[in-house]
Amino acid sequence: MASLSVARAGEQPNPEGSVDPTSRAAFRSAVIAGLDARPRALSSVWFYDAMGSLLFQRIMRLPGYYPTRVETEILEASSGEILGCLPVAPGAIVDLGAGDGAKTRLLLAAARRISPAVTYAPVDVAGEALRSATGRMRAVWPDLAVRAEQADYVEGLLRARRASGETPVLGLLLGSNVGNLEWAEAVSLLRSLRGSLAGGDHLLVGFDLLKDERVLRAAYDDPEGVTAAFNLNLLARINRELGGDLDLSAFSHRATFDLARPAMESWLVARRATVATIAGRRFRFASGEAIHTEISWKYTEAQLGALARAAGFEEVARWHDGRRWFCDALWRVGPEAR
Ligand code: AVI
Repeated sequence: MASLSVARAGEQPNPEGSVDPTSRAAFRSAVIAGLDARPRALSSVWFYDAMGSLLFQRIMRLPGYYPTRVETEILEASSGEILGCLPVAPGAIVDLGAGDGAKTRLLLAAARRISPAVTYAPVDVAGEALRSATGRMRAVWPDLAVRAEQADYVEGLLRARRASGETPVLGLLLGSNVGNLEWAEAVSLLRSLRGSLAGGDHLLVGFDLLKDERVLRAAYDDPEGVTAAFNLNLLARINRELGGDLDLSAFSHRATFDLARPAMESWLVARRATVATIAGRRFRFASGEAIHTEISWKYTEAQLGALARAAGFEEVARWHDGRRWFCDALWRVGPEAR
């Protein structure tokens, strides 16, 4: 997954509220600010170094981690219908961080059935992610037109939109990646994406929905320990990149459910009192102290409509899996925006 660029606890937002998840200097100041803050918090944008991305690939294959499978089920059943809802065939499918590309491939296949000239436009701040996304799609369709944009989502979508001229684009924000943002951050990102688009363009957004708490807990605290390793890798990354000496055995992964939002949350909890030096600074952690590392919204249907309206989109349609665990929502930019 490409990281969502947003500011979090203790970080200094730039005018767009974005932070570059590939910058070592940004990582250093975010870690120091996040560990100085009370309660302590580190943004999940920092999960995705090479090891974190690998661990996330493993999470997506876990029996208990359902979101990837159920969204794939939706797109296997409905990609043709989704593309059929667009009044004009899209000139480009703009992929805002679609992981291993399997879900995007389903939508591209449906788009190519309507118009073989459709351009695949992956967007990521990391050049390596773009190269592998391009390679994977070209392996399936050697003739595929590709225009990769190395940029954050908002800038990348804007560039892809400009390149498409008068032909509308379809942006993809799949995987419930938006759910890793707090509500106001999600509205702000979606509004900015809306600002990158023109009248007649569409955005397809994946949302993980509220469901039985036991299913949620099993997805975010798997018996295999992969999600724990994914969370703890953030501390390992601090040691690797910022010369830290955090004792990883002094922390454990905890997943909690907050019905009020609703959302799952991840924490790193000190098993005992511990001290660490990070980037020349000394940090003391009391026994039982928790560092907040991730929020993962589990939306209600009503919240999806509220998000679309708050971000300035018109809803076109929603597609669900058989158990209604996940939803892909198609949003339109009104014609007045052109
Ligand atoms: C990338 N994102 C949507 C995942 C999620 O489900 O919130 C990240 C993840 N965190 C723990 N497991 C998976």
